[in-house]
Amino acid sequence: MERIILDVDTGLDDAVALFLAAGLKEITIEAIIATAGNVGLDKTLENTLNIAETSGLTCPVYAGSSGPLVRTPVEAGDFHGESGLDGPLFEERVRQHVAPTSGIDAMIALVMDNPHEITIVSVGPLTDLAVAFIREPRIAEYAKRFVIMGGSFSRGNVTDEAEFNTYADPEAAKIVFASGAQIALFSLDCTRTVTLSPQRLESFRQRGGRSNEVFVACMDTYTANYTKRGQGEPQMHDPLCVAYLADPSKVAGSYAGVDVITEEGPSYGRTVKTDSEQKVFIAESIDIPWFWSLVERALSSLP
Ligand code: RIB
Ligand code: CA
Repeated sequence: MERIILDVDTGLDDAVALFLAAGLKEITIEAIIATAGNVGLDKTLENTLNIAETSGLTCPVYAGSSGPLVRTPVEAGDFHGESGLDGPLFEERVRQHVAPTSGIDAMIALVMDNPHEITIVSVGPLTDLAVAFIREPRIAEYAKRFVIMGGSFSRGNVTDEAEFNTYADPEAAKIVFASGAQIALFSLDCTRTVTLSPQRLESFRQRGGRSNEVFVACMDTYTANYTKRGQGEPQMHDPLCVAYLADPSKVAGSYAGVDVITEEGPSYGRTVKTDSEQKVFIAESIDIPWFWSLVERALSSLP
């Protein structure tokens, strides 16, 4: 059983990661932290609470960082819609409300109170992780591992060279990759290979359940926004990090040091491989049919 903290900037693909983590019996979500990213913190928090409520999750949902460490904030709403989760409509929530304490304090407490037990899955800007490392450097060692969606070792998706999550807070990402923590990184080079075809979306549309209905509404928006921008089928970035925890043997990759360019200029926020001692597992491919079978299984098990 993988005990995880999910750090999200919900967003449409973050919602798939949340459904996957909520629905897989291999995973227990100890806490969810919403951070600013795709859209502002007020919206990512609202979206996260709505997905948590829909999937019947009872774990606490915390507020994380409201913006990057030093740079001016950037958003990715054009892929996720004005709300960050355009498409599904939600009733007034009954169970899920934001927990009163800071998400970063909660992350540190959970990790330090459960040494080598908790995996942190981060699928938005790395601000929360960086602040936690600054406040309590030992979490790098006390956490079981970190699974991160971010970076690109080829072309970017928000600039020619940078991927959104690292571009949204390059200084934070630099701190995290230099921490010496055990990290599995899902960069664009892997995540852009997993896309949702219209045929597969139609097969989901035939299935029942409220969570499945919300998933389909999210993916309709995601598909439309990718099509509008001539970017082909929507890419399943964030949920790959959760799928990896269900069976790491379904992911192939290699090890390298990773650094982030923080000098102003066209490469700002770009991730680069280095020969640093701090080796990161960089995912290169995943068993795609197996991934989709997990999504089907997870959604079938949710309300
Ligand atoms: O570049 C993809 C990442 O940026 C994903 O986490 C997506 O949700 C956006 O935040
Ligand atoms: Ca995200």
